[in-house]
Amino acid sequence: MPEMRYNFQQPPQLLIGFSVARGSLRLHHLTSARQEKNMATALKIAPPEDKVSRFVSKTHKILINGKWADAASGKTFPTYNPATGEVLAQVAEGDREDINRAVKAARTAFENGPWSRLTPSERARLIYKLADLLEDNLEEFAELESLDNGKPLKVARAADVPLAVDLFRYMSGWATKIEGNTIPISVPYAAGAKFLAYTLREPVGVVGQIIPWNFPLLMAAWKLGPALATGNTVVLKPAEQTPLTALRLGELFQEAGFPDGVVNIVPGYGETAGAALAAHPDVDKIAFTGSTEVGKLILHAAAGNLKKVSLELGGKSPNVVFADVDLDSAIAGAASAIFFNHGQCCCAGSRLYVEDSIFDKVVDGVAEHANKIKVGSGQDDSNDMGPLVSAEQLNRVCGYLESGISEGARAVAGGSRHGDKGYFVKPTVLVNTNEKMKVVREEIFGPVVTAIPFRDPAELVKQANNSEYGLAAGIWTRDIQKAHRLASQLRAGTVWINCYNIFDAALPFGGYKQSGWGREMGHEVLEQYTEVKAVCAAL
Ligand code: NAI
Ligand code: MG
Repeated sequence: MPEMRYNFQQPPQLLIGFSVARGSLRLHHLTSARQEKNMATALKIAPPEDKVSRFVSKTHKILINGKWADAASGKTFPTYNPATGEVLAQVAEGDREDINRAVKAARTAFENGPWSRLTPSERARLIYKLADLLEDNLEEFAELESLDNGKPLKVARAADVPLAVDLFRYMSGWATKIEGNTIPISVPYAAGAKFLAYTLREPVGVVGQIIPWNFPLLMAAWKLGPALATGNTVVLKPAEQTPLTALRLGELFQEAGFPDGVVNIVPGYGETAGAALAAHPDVDKIAFTGSTEVGKLILHAAAGNLKKVSLELGGKSPNVVFADVDLDSAIAGAASAIFFNHGQCCCAGSRLYVEDSIFDKVVDGVAEHANKIKVGSGQDDSNDMGPLVSAEQLNRVCGYLESGISEGARAVAGGSRHGDKGYFVKPTVLVNTNEKMKVVREEIFGPVVTAIPFRDPAELVKQANNSEYGLAAGIWTRDIQKAHRLASQLRAGTVWINCYNIFDAALPFGGYKQSGWGREMGHEVLEQYTEVKAVCAAL
């Protein structure tokens, strides 16, 4: 297979955020001739500003049953450009009534619509077509994502959009492979009787999906891909901070030819539209990504009709560096583990544990990386890190910085807001921290890492696991025994060894402990979107 190789200037990890131990970065998901052509075009041509500004300046509506409608209340809400704090667009503000209408449309499409009569192969082709359309519009989506979320356009272009395309392609392949088993049964109380027993995997039904703002398009893909591959219908509520790419994706679902009502998209606030979706008595399953706090509210809301629940929640992931390591790789890896996406990653390597003999070198190295990161508007390709998504997140992260410093932590890089316009924070490295501090215990969700030395490996395991979260972990060492032993001891859904932030549509992702329930991606996610029916026939 042809392979595209990008020779990004050092540090490549900070540009794109996927760090590997050595060598240049390869993006295996950009492999087909069509993809190469699109990418080459995207890199050469100027951003389709007209298309983007035309879309942004539209009146953004709610997608219900294949039609774009105003909110039942007539209300709209603003989405902001986080680089400037200015209003970017007005969006219809969905609430309970809009959720009711969307759920009704999804129910009808599930029970009576053409969707349930499609063959698996036809379903697969529709999802694949959606992926092609998304890829054809890569540059526009990257631009929209960068405007609405603040992340660098070059990152959205190289990571967010291609990963979403790849996810849909991967999931389209599963549509034709949702299989049950034939099961030999014994039935001790029916001597001599013979049975044919088998299982069927069927769609759960109407699925509500609530997603966050840190990877708006990619989170929509992670949710929609498996739900549709397994034959469900969906009501998706994007985050109020970043509704634009989900709404544009809604147009592509229509263009691809998905039947009306299969994908409904209701932008709005969490406490209103989100809560109504989570509590809705005719929703069979709710899938949520966001804060652990809201994850618990979702669980309560779901209790009314005992809808199925999957949750992808917060993290406070340990990233462990041993003294035998290749220093440059580990330093670059530790920096990108926390600074990628401005630290707004549930799996960010936010607790850096370094063997004490190399602690100062690693901390100095990560601080040097932090100081070199150019912070500024994501629209300007010379910048490496954009703003946080909102004023709320800016205040939250700055609050953590103040709390850490007031408790005795010291910032060896960063430590405060960057500039006074937009929601920028300086990449920050904190030392002199301990396990009791909020900055070590709680998810900050900003570009802030706490560096902590360790000596005894057994003590390290305890410390690394001393968290209510268990989403991810990183290990940097040249000793393979040490690496795999520690990988088995860490209570985390993902462990990266000599790399960090490596994602793939085929690799399951999700949390132990309070980081969540269930897994996204891989074949594991299909279980979250199917019911198992046991069929038993007397022969
Ligand atoms: P959040 O959990 O409030 O928002 C995530 C999604 O849930 C949004 O679509 C929101 O509208 C919705 N939501 C909020 N309240 C809801 C409710 N009562 N019922 C149903 N849906 C509801 O997260 P927020 O406030 O944006 O960020 C707060 C913190 O959450 C961050 O600082 C970070 O620590 C964490 N977070 C974690 C994410 C992850 O990827 N696991 C993503 C975003 C935030
Ligand atoms: Mg919230």
